[in-house]
Amino acid sequence: MALPYKKLILGITGGIAAYKAAELLRLLVKQGIDVQVVMTEAACQFITPVTLQALSGKPVFTSMWDASIANGMPHIELSRGADAILIAPASADFLAKLVHGCADDLLSTLCLARECPLLVAPAMNRQMWENPATQRNIELLKQDGIRVLGPAEGEQACGETGLGRMLEPEDIIRLLEPSSGLLAGKRILITAGPTVEHIDPVRAITNLSSGKMGYSIAEAAAQMGAEVLLISGPVSLAPPAGIEVQSVISADDMLKAVLENIGRQDVFISVAAVSDYRVAQPSEQKLKKGAQTLSLELLPNTDILAKVASLPDAPFCVGFAAESENLLDYAEQKRRAKKLPLIAANLVSDSMGGDDTNLALLDDTGAHPLPRGPKTIVARQLLQHVATMLDKTSRKPKP
Ligand code: CTP
Repeated sequence: MALPYKKLILGITGGIAAYKAAELLRLLVKQGIDVQVVMTEAACQFITPVTLQALSGKPVFTSMWDASIANGMPHIELSRGADAILIAPASADFLAKLVHGCADDLLSTLCLARECPLLVAPAMNRQMWENPATQRNIELLKQDGIRVLGPAEGEQACGETGLGRMLEPEDIIRLLEPSSGLLAGKRILITAGPTVEHIDPVRAITNLSSGKMGYSIAEAAAQMGAEVLLISGPVSLAPPAGIEVQSVISADDMLKAVLENIGRQDVFISVAAVSDYRVAQPSEQKLKKGAQTLSLELLPNTDILAKVASLPDAPFCVGFAAESENLLDYAEQKRRAKKLPLIAANLVSDSMGGDDTNLALLDDTGAHPLPRGPKTIVARQLLQHVATMLDKTSRKPKP
C-alpha cells in the first residue's frame, strides 16, 4: 500500500539500530517518497552519512552550521513542506530531549521548529527502555501528540533479550500505511483494561490486564479514520492523543458507560478484562483481621459484551477471549454463546501485560492466526479484518 507522504525527514540518532535506518530509507525511497536524512553526531558513529546519501540521492545534514543552506537556517528550511518527521532509531537521550523541547543540534531543533507530525521509533537496551525516566518520557511524548512506533521485543545487540529493539523497517512501513481511510466515518466503542471490584475502602478484586491491547486498538482505529470512544478501567497508560476516554472502576460502571453510548456506535470491541463477579456487600469500613477464615460472597456481573450483542440494533461486536488452555475451542464456544461475528483469541501467557501478542481471529469462516508481534501492529491487522467484514456485511454507518 502506498504511504501517504510525498516528503519526509528521516532523523537518525545514535544507537546500534542506526544500521537498520539504511534499509528503512531504501523502502521509503522505493515508494517514491522524497526523503531528507538528518543525522545526529552520535548517529554518524554508527553509520556513515555517505551510505544514506547514496540511498536517498541527497546530501545528508548533520550540523546546524551547514553553509550550503542558502538562508543559513537549516532547522526551518529542511522541514518546509515536509509531511512528517520520522526519527528511527530514536535513542533514549533523544526522546528525553524531545520531552523538554531541547534544541542543541540540528535534528532536535528541526523537531522543535516543525509544523508537521512527528513519529519516533525508539531503540535502546532493555534496562534503558524500562527505566521509569524513559517510560515517563514516552507517556509525555504521547500526550504531546507524538506517535511512538514500537519498540519490539527480542534479542538485543548488548546480548540481553527484552523490549527495546527498534521495530523492523517493514513493520515501521506497515504502521505508516494509510489504512487510514478504512474505518472513516465509523464510530467505534472500545473497552479496555481491568475492572476493580471493591471489598472495602482499601481492598479490591481485579486482574492483571494492562490495557495495552485496548489502547493500541483505540489508537489504530483513530488512525484509520474512526471516531473512537475508549471506556477504560484503571490503567497506567497515557490517554491516546485525540481520543475521547471515559474512565471507570467497576464492571457495573463500565456496563453503564457502555450502554449510555452504544446507541450510536457502528462497532463495539470488548477488549476489557471485565470481572465476572463483584462482592455482594462491600464494606464501607476497612475490614479488621480476625483469627477465623473470611469468606466473601460474590455475585455475578452482567456480561457487557453478551448484553450489547443481544440488543435489537446491536453494532458489529468483536470479543476477546483470554484463555490459559484449549484456546481455539474455548474461544469459539464464547463466540457462539455471545453471538459474535468475530472473536480474537489469545493465550494469557502469550500477551497479558506484555507489549507483544499472538492473536487468532475466529469468525464464521474459521480461524485466522495473525503473526506474533507488537500490539500496535496486531491491532491494525485486527481492524483490517474488521473493516473487511464490515464491507462484506455492507453495514451502513449509523446516522
Ligand atoms: N466480557 C464482558 N463482560 C463480562 C465478562 C466478559 O464484556 N462481564 C467480555 C470481555 O471483554 C471479552 C469477552 O467477554 O471480550 C470474553 O471475556 P473472558 O473473560 O475471556 O470470558 P468470559 O466470558 O468472562 O468467560 P470465562 O471467564 O469463563 O473464560
